[in-house]
Amino acid sequence: MKPIADTLANGSILLDTDGKPVNAHGPGVMYHQGVYYLFGEIKKGKTWLVPGQNWEDYRVSAGGISCYSSTDLKHWKNRGIALKPEVGDPGNDLDTGRVIERPKVIYNARTKKFVMWMHIDKNDYNYSRGGIAISDNPVGPYQYLGSIRPNNQMLRDMTLYKDDDGKAYLIYSSEDNNTMHVCQLSDDYLKPTTTYVRIFENKRRESPSIFKNKGKYYLITSGCSGWSPNAASYAVADHVMGPWKEEGNPCKGANAEVTFFSQGAFVLPIVSQPGKYIFMGDLWNKTDLEKSAYLWLPLRINDGKVEIYNP
Ligand code: DGJ
Repeated sequence: MKPIADTLANGSILLDTDGKPVNAHGPGVMYHQGVYYLFGEIKKGKTWLVPGQNWEDYRVSAGGISCYSSTDLKHWKNRGIALKPEVGDPGNDLDTGRVIERPKVIYNARTKKFVMWMHIDKNDYNYSRGGIAISDNPVGPYQYLGSIRPNNQMLRDMTLYKDDDGKAYLIYSSEDNNTMHVCQLSDDYLKPTTTYVRIFENKRRESPSIFKNKGKYYLITSGCSGWSPNAASYAVADHVMGPWKEEGNPCKGANAEVTFFSQGAFVLPIVSQPGKYIFMGDLWNKTDLEKSAYLWLPLRINDGKVEIYNP
C-alpha cells in the first residue's frame, strides 16, 4: 500500500469536504477514537504591517481557532470554530486585534477534558503568553480560561506533547526567542509546573514540533526570521526534558535550506502506518496571510536519522 503521506504532498490550497479552502494555519492534530482533529489559526482579511517594528511584523485579524476532522487524512470536514475570537474588546486575549497562534490540543483521560494551549500576543509580540482553553468535546466549543507566562518566562511559538505515561509538556520559544523551554504541565494539563529546562540556548529557534519513535524523542524547529523561510533543524533525546542532541537539517534535496519555503508546525504520526509521519508545514504568504498554504510531506526515520523530502 502506498504510504498515506506520499499522496499528500501539496503546497497548494487544501480544500475541505465542502470545497472551501482549509483555514487552519500553524496547525496541530489530535487523534482521538479513530478520528484526526485538525486545529489551526483562522486567518481572514487584509494583512497589514505593524508600524515602528524593525522586523517583518505582518499581521492579520485573529479569527480564532478552527477545527476540521478526518478519518483518512485526505478528506477534511469543517467542524466549525473551536474557539471564537472576541470582537471590539481590545483588552481581551481573544480580541480580533490580538495574535492567536499555533493552537495544540490534547486529551486528559483523568479529567475527560480536551485541553488547548496556544500562543497569545499583541501586535509587537511582547505580551508572549500561553493561552489555555478546555472543552468536553474534541471539536469544541472551547472555553477560554486565561493566559500565563510559565514560570514568568515569555512564551511565543509553542507545541504540546502528551507522552505515553500521560504526562504532558509545553515546548516554546522563550527569552525573547533566544532560548526554548520545555515545561512539564500539571496533571490536569491546565497549568505549567516549576519543572522546566532551557534548551538550544541562544540558538533562536521557533516553531517546535515533536514526536517519538522507537523510544527516542525528536524535536524539529525552524530558525527565527519572521514569516520568511529558513533552515529547519532537529534534535534527539531519550526524554522530553532532554538533554537534546542537535543533528542538523532533516530536509533533503532542492530548497532544503529553506524547508522547501515552508515552516514546520506539527509532526503527525499516521496511526494506521506505525513509524510513518507527516511533516506539516505552513507556506506563509506574508503580505496576504489569509492566502498562506500548506506543505505536508512524508517524514521518514532512516537508521535514527530524520529525513524530509519534497517529492
Ligand atoms: C514566526 C512564527 O513561527 C509564526 O508563528 C509567527 O509568529 C511569525 N513568526 C510572526 O512573524
